[in-house]
Amino acid sequence: MSKEDEYDKVKLEQFQANQRLESEEIYQLRQKKKQIVEDLQDGGIKNIKSKILDHVNKNFYNTHDLQIEFRKHPAYSKLEIKNFLPLDVLRAMAEELNNLPVEKAKKFDRRGSCMYEFNDLTETPIQEQVVNAMHSSPFLTWLQEVTDTKDLIPDPHLIGAGYAKNFTGDSLKIHTDFNWNEQLRLHRRLSLVIYLNETWNKEWGGNLDFYDLDRKNILSTVVPGPGNLVLWSYHNLAYHGYPEPMTNPIDESRKCFRLFYYVSNSKYHEKFPPHRSLYWFDENENTPYDKPWIN
Ligand SMILES: [Fe+2]
Repeated sequence: MSKEDEYDKVKLEQFQANQRLESEEIYQLRQKKKQIVEDLQDGGIKNIKSKILDHVNKNFYNTHDLQIEFRKHPAYSKLEIKNFLPLDVLRAMAEELNNLPVEKAKKFDRRGSCMYEFNDLTETPIQEQVVNAMHSSPFLTWLQEVTDTKDLIPDPHLIGAGYAKNFTGDSLKIHTDFNWNEQLRLHRRLSLVIYLNETWNKEWGGNLDFYDLDRKNILSTVVPGPGNLVLWSYHNLAYHGYPEPMTNPIDESRKCFRLFYYVSNSKYHEKFPPHRSLYWFDENENTPYDKPWIN
């Protein structure tokens, strides 16, 4: 074999080795990426729902005492719970909301109030998991026990709900909430807000004041601190807001997540009372098997 041929052979082997090495590297990188995605789904995003439910179950299981606290608030029932979310979930939500550009938001500005709202779950996978947790049957059961409410209904369309953030100079004028969800055709019963700022200086403002029914005195105030949850019953005179412009730093937006729960006042028609599934038809008797309308 000539030196030239030998050189070409080694060159080819080296090339092939490089190729294999590259393939191995690519394979390893692919595996690594796959693992990251799986970790994210199993231990991260996908797990947020169970993390929240476990956290609530473990830390706020005494619904009896929470209900007493909820009822204690004058004029209308209201409850504040600190550190309601696991810290890593809170951080993930705050980061997701921070990264959402205001151009993608629905701008809420009425009567001098200003807020940027994000409730598109396709854009916010972390928010989606939180919504899944807080719309789930175990969470609704917990909520019903705490608020002594029956038959709460969540809103899958998140009308007026979801993430919201606003900035220095913004405010939320004193108001009462909307009471009717046209899409669900249901009355509002509960409002739930969780604050996502890990640090908030009370002096910046943005503290949510709850007023008496005459709007004269402040009954209670919620500082938008890390993971603080506030829950209150709908009342047509439950005034609340932070009317003064906030003085928070430009790079520190006020961030929250809101959900509203509803109840139905529907009644069944007397002529068509509730019945189980009817299996037509008994061939021998020539009648339905079940005759709920015949007593
Ligand atoms: Fe409100």
